[in-house]
Amino acid sequence: MTIHIGAKPGDIAETVLLPGDPYRARWAAQTFLKDAVLVNEVRGMLAYTGTWNGHRVTIHGTGMGMPSLSIYVNELIRDYGAQTLIRIGSAGGMQPHVKVRDVVLGMSACTTGTPSSTIFRELNYAPTADFGLLKAAWEAGQGKGIGLHAGQIYSSDTFYDERPDLNEQMQRHGVLAVEMEAAELYILAARYGRRALAVLTISDHLLTHEALPSDQREQSFGDMVDIALTAAFA
Ligand code: ADE
Repeated sequence: MTIHIGAKPGDIAETVLLPGDPYRARWAAQTFLKDAVLVNEVRGMLAYTGTWNGHRVTIHGTGMGMPSLSIYVNELIRDYGAQTLIRIGSAGGMQPHVKVRDVVLGMSACTTGTPSSTIFRELNYAPTADFGLLKAAWEAGQGKGIGLHAGQIYSSDTFYDERPDLNEQMQRHGVLAVEMEAAELYILAARYGRRALAVLTISDHLLTHEALPSDQREQSFGDMVDIALTAAFA
């Protein structure tokens, strides 16, 4: 057990999927895993371990934002030995060709700051996904009949954004989507020599203000989980 995770040693698989929402962790485990067992519920942050196609997988909530994700990912890596960590979550579309329901693979994640920023001082470190996972996820997404994109994403610290001018600059420079966790995940994975990727479903759009109706979320999120699992064991 760690401060924030009640799982026993060995309860956590080497491959961990990381939704922000703990209830989505439960849904994904019930939908995709065989023999899923609840391994953490400290502070309501649900985590389940089961198998997918015979491979052990843990699906662990992270909460919203990089400070929360940083706590869970630090403990999953340092105390439980997680090797492959894939964020599965929602994001806001930032480009006209990135549509609601599309899946975005975060090749790199720009940010105004993460919990790790203090160690980098003047360096603008570029948080980057694991290339092998990215390539495998790209291949897994082909033929699914979904809009699939790979590129730069923005990991924001604020959902209610007071800097529309900053979004405009990112849009000018090709940033595909905004979410709130990937940059710190990529930095922690790099620090500890682990593999990480963010597979994101576009749930709303900053340009069109369209939002995915809740009854259509499940199918779209299902594609994302399938891509993440297929990539993890490719
Ligand atoms: N996650 C999903 N949509 C988002 C948005 N518009 N901003 C930040 N994070 C998000």
